[in-house]
Amino acid sequence: MSVLIEKNKSLQAYNTFGIDAIAPFFCRVETVEELQEVLQMEQFRQLPILILGGGSNILFTRDPEGLVLLNRIAGESVEKEDEDHVWVKVGGGQNWHDFVLYTIAQGWGGLENLSLIPGTVGAAPMQNIGAYGVEIKDTFSHLEAVERESGQLRVFTNSECEFGYRSSIFKTQARDKYIIASVTFRLHKKHTYNTSYGDIQKTLLELGIEELSLKAVSDAVIRIRQSKLPDPKKIGNAGSFFKNPVINTQLFKKLQEQYPNMPNYPQNDDWVKVPAGWLIEQSGWKGHKRAQIGVHEKQALVLVNYGGARGADLKQLAADIQASVEEKFGIQLETEVNFI
Ligand code: EPU
Repeated sequence: MSVLIEKNKSLQAYNTFGIDAIAPFFCRVETVEELQEVLQMEQFRQLPILILGGGSNILFTRDPEGLVLLNRIAGESVEKEDEDHVWVKVGGGQNWHDFVLYTIAQGWGGLENLSLIPGTVGAAPMQNIGAYGVEIKDTFSHLEAVERESGQLRVFTNSECEFGYRSSIFKTQARDKYIIASVTFRLHKKHTYNTSYGDIQKTLLELGIEELSLKAVSDAVIRIRQSKLPDPKKIGNAGSFFKNPVINTQLFKKLQEQYPNMPNYPQNDDWVKVPAGWLIEQSGWKGHKRAQIGVHEKQALVLVNYGGARGADLKQLAADIQASVEEKFGIQLETEVNFI
């Protein structure tokens, strides 16, 4: 067994923004053993290593250094089951949406609201992906990760992952220390449906669905996402570019006097989440275009590459948006996308 190492490889096909960055060294691993083999190679021990999953949450503002390692670790298996639940283990390099469709076909509930999210299974826990009222932490059991330094496999339970809104330990203390090899979800054989968020109910009606099923909810979510979010295969983008900010209730009340229609999601007595998309739209950016880049016309949270853009230009656009939202609302937007 030997992993092929390529040199000066274009990463354009490996990031959903479609930025043409060049990796000095590049390889693809399909098993934990291949991953461990690469980590032990003498030539890479002193070099930075960048792990790519689906490349759907990354913006290359320059060429990366060292080795770019594409995680394509595959496999699906049932670890155990009882009357109500099944624990299904899936390789970190599998495509997320394909895996969601597989669980739905098996009749296992819990991931249907997370249909059509771009990216891989291994990247999902890193930022605790979420949509339509569900986050992966809700069905996540544990994961196996390879420690970069030692090459050893280690298990992280749900609480050890320290999940938060678009966050986990892999974005904080354990950043750049582990590579996620597999994730195990505890899925439901008896279903409860979460259709309270946003347009799901309305879309189910539009689709003429009378009886709820995992597939019906998934179909509704797919339809909503397709209507609002650009397809990265057609227009380069990385989904939400910013996180929804959480502001203190005092600031929120002050803003609400001025903007009574400001959408809001109270987190507790002290904190309120407000949609970044709304703040950006109110600041006049929705549909903005400059050369090959812009702000999506149907969802202001999404920055797009119409073709041939440089990552640095998108970074500048993001900074301009942050400055104008801060000036108008006194709110600092944090990026959800990772910059290289
Ligand atoms: N809104 C606007 N203008 C816009 C966009 C949104 O006024 O241009 C308003 C909407 O009218 C609505 C509110 O903002 O009142 C929320 O909008 P939406 O339901 O579209 O969701 P979001 O908060 O903008 C979040 C996630 C998405 C996820 C959706 C659905 C974040 C950063 N984004 O977006 O996740 O799909 O909810 O659950 O939390 C992603 O992370 O890449 C992503 C797409």
